[in-house]
Amino acid sequence: MSDLGAVPVPGQFVLGEMTSTYTLPPLPYAYNALEPHISEQIMHLHHGRHHQAYIASLNALQKNYSAAAAANNLHEQLALQPLLKFHGGGHINHALFWPSLAPAQSDDALYPETKAPSLVAAVAAQWGSLGAFKAAFTAVLLGIQGSGWGWLTHSGSGSSSDHQLSIVTTKDQDVPVGDVVFGIDMWEHAYYLQYLNGKAAYVAGVWQVVNWTTAEARFTGQRPASVDYITVTLSE
Ligand SMILES: [Fe+2]
Repeated sequence: MSDLGAVPVPGQFVLGEMTSTYTLPPLPYAYNALEPHISEQIMHLHHGRHHQAYIASLNALQKNYSAAAAANNLHEQLALQPLLKFHGGGHINHALFWPSLAPAQSDDALYPETKAPSLVAAVAAQWGSLGAFKAAFTAVLLGIQGSGWGWLTHSGSGSSSDHQLSIVTTKDQDVPVGDVVFGIDMWEHAYYLQYLNGKAAYVAGVWQVVNWTTAEARFTGQRPASVDYITVTLSE
């Protein structure tokens, strides 16, 4: 329903009802690969149920939004925007999360100094050492109230030495501003089945499975973070 009326604009390009359909990106490792730090059960539920649910809702919302736009129903479009933000953010954030992790015994997780030399140097320049950075990040993660995420982001252009790193948090499924280096899911669904209320133990476990190769590639611009969530098809 629209009582606002649509004023045709000469030369305006109309997309009609073409919509994007997002699909669940596969995990870059087996469901049990992050054991014992993140259990296979959690990974199955978190990836196959939670992330999939955000994508299913996002796809349905996109279709409804597209139909509302085609009908010039501004009220419906506005009503859908907060839901799109939540479920679209849920997709983006989780798609950024999975490649941020790697099996604890892999070189990607074991050797930050060799797998992420530019990033580790930048971290040391800002926080003094990798250990000091981890402590600062951990404190921020443990300070999150309710559901949210912790992120290491960078900004700047040109050589990596120009980049400013930031530890930021986002609430619920808000997406971070800035280019993501890595992110840590602090929703209870990410840890409760295994760690119960042991949030600090979960964070300690996550530090054992950070994928420093992904982090370095994102930091140096070799891997735009957006490539992790653009699995999409267009349809009418
Ligand atoms: Fe999650």
